[in-house]
Amino acid sequence: MSKRAIVVGGSGQIGGWLLRTLAEQGHEAVGTYNTVAFPDLVPLDGANLDASARWIADQKPDVVYYPAGFTWVDGCERDPARARSANLEQPLNLARAAADLGSKFVYFSTDYVFDGAAGPYAEDSPTNALSVYGQSKLDAEGALRDALGDRVLIVRTSWVYGPERQGKNFSYQLAKALSAGKTLECPSDQISSPSYGPDVALAVVSLVELGQSGLIHVAGPEVMDRVEFARGIAKGFGLDPGLIVGKTTDELGQVVPRPLNGGLSTPRLDAILPGIMRPVAESMSDFLVKLSTVEGLAYPLPPGDLLADAMPLEPRIL
Ligand SMILES: NC(=O)c1ccc[n+]([C@@H]2O[C@H](COP(=O)([O-])OP(=O)(O)OC[C@H]3O[C@@H](n4cnc5c(N)ncnc54)[C@H](OP(=O)(O)O)[C@@H]3O)[C@@H](O)[C@H]2O)c1
Repeated sequence: MSKRAIVVGGSGQIGGWLLRTLAEQGHEAVGTYNTVAFPDLVPLDGANLDASARWIADQKPDVVYYPAGFTWVDGCERDPARARSANLEQPLNLARAAADLGSKFVYFSTDYVFDGAAGPYAEDSPTNALSVYGQSKLDAEGALRDALGDRVLIVRTSWVYGPERQGKNFSYQLAKALSAGKTLECPSDQISSPSYGPDVALAVVSLVELGQSGLIHVAGPEVMDRVEFARGIAKGFGLDPGLIVGKTTDELGQVVPRPLNGGLSTPRLDAILPGIMRPVAESMSDFLVKLSTVEGLAYPLPPGDLLADAMPLEPRIL
């Protein structure tokens, strides 16, 4: 059945794919941006608590997706009040507005709720966040469950990559560096589950269509270190994986603790939607197809590169 959806953070990576997926599946969807305006999105700053809650109430959605927040791990550590506001208080405010309408709320969390001593982690694994970012997400999970009960779906995901409008995610940083002949230093001791953005969106929209709630891990089927992940992306783009240099987290000066042996196993998702998440190599073929067939995506490589030559369409945003 077609539903009316709001995507708070429609200008972001996951939000953009949620909007496309919802449209493809025949749902009516309105997306918002905060600082990066796109003409098809409406402005909304969750920090304006009253105004944003009123806007949600006016929209009368069946479902509010919330792929938004303050996601910069080091920035959260420096400004815990902002992290708590953006990752907990603002979504809780909108979740309450949604609950008043009888709507469902979908929140996006992370494998940073775990300490990385023994990943990958299932939904019932004990949590132990090491960072302000992880703790703000973990606190939000609990507060949303307490406030909304079975009206909330909490999706934990990790290392999301793929085509997007803003061109910010790791796969873009990698393509820009390697195509310019620069080396890219990656933490060789950080392990997680690379998750392809379009697959994350399709899985989450499908879970909502199936009436699922509670906590569900939505992550790719492979667990690997960041160097292996980077090499997989480089290979997919036809770039030189030899330019990827592995360094430890300490050597890279990343002082905020991260879950090293992290990653997510996905027993609930596998039982409901087996095979919906693609491995890196397979997703990279889809990445190239989407760049040439989906309007408005940022283009990761300069024109004239191998990939650009293979593309049937001109790059749209450079
Ligand atoms: N990407 C990952 O690897 C990953 C892994 C685990 C969990 N997650 C979680 O998944 C969610 C989405 O991640 P993403 O990679 O799609 O993030 P993203 O690309 O950085 O997008 C974040 C979105 O949040 C919006 N936003 C920021 N502050 C806001 C505010 N005050 N009010 C309303 N909207 C605001 C941004 O709007 P503007 O850009 O217009 O300012 C943007 O649309 C996040 O909650 C993140 O913690 C992501």
